[in-house]
Amino acid sequence: MGKVILINHPLIEHKLAIIRNKTTDTKTFRENVNEIGSLVTYEITRDLTTKPVQVETPIAMTTCQQLAKDVVIVPILRAGLGMVDGIHNVIPTAKIGHIGLYRDERTLKPHSYYMKLPPVLPDATILVVDPMLATGGSAVAAINLVKQQGGKDIRFVGLVGCPEGIAMLQKHHPNVDIYLVSVDERLNEVGYIVPGLGDCGDRLFGTK
Ligand code: PRP
Ligand code: URA
Repeated sequence: MGKVILINHPLIEHKLAIIRNKTTDTKTFRENVNEIGSLVTYEITRDLTTKPVQVETPIAMTTCQQLAKDVVIVPILRAGLGMVDGIHNVIPTAKIGHIGLYRDERTLKPHSYYMKLPPVLPDATILVVDPMLATGGSAVAAINLVKQQGGKDIRFVGLVGCPEGIAMLQKHHPNVDIYLVSVDERLNEVGYIVPGLGDCGDRLFGTK
């Protein structure tokens, strides 16, 4: 069963209050989503393996540690894009793949419209990124695509989830750990997380 890792930090709590607030403007919303993206990256990558490398400092040779595997960030479009810069600022060597999915408003089922993933997937640590884990359909579909392309070491990185989405993701991908900053109460009758933060894609890009 994939673990749920709830990342707690006063700075994250503070920024989460800003993005939950319906009066927050698009620019501030986008900035805070990205900043949370940077902050959660420390926790998401805490157990990455490193390999020894020999480094010559200005004074002497020494042994240091560097990341042993490539890291690939895979945002689910559109809302996942909102966290990419924040994560990439902390792991600038990471490669970035994209998966385009949208939820049918009536059925809530995800539809795939784009995919471009780097060839290093089979040997990389892959961060599938989407701020919202609602029904879990988009996360499950994106991880299916990543696995079809050879991805094995996969983590789901979100912000706000709910019990329904977590259960769905754990059922379909029991080997994927789930990182969130909040597990909210529930889904409402139209598939939105309660209390949530509304439609994340629209709030990031000013489309509503
Ligand atoms: C939103 C959100 C997630 C998805 C989560 O995307 O960004 O990708 O819904 O819902 P689920 O867990 O029920 O699948 P949306 O389909 O609205 O597309 P957008 O990001 O392009 O607005
Ligand atoms: N997608 C969002 O952007 N928000 C929700 O609450 C659910 C799905």
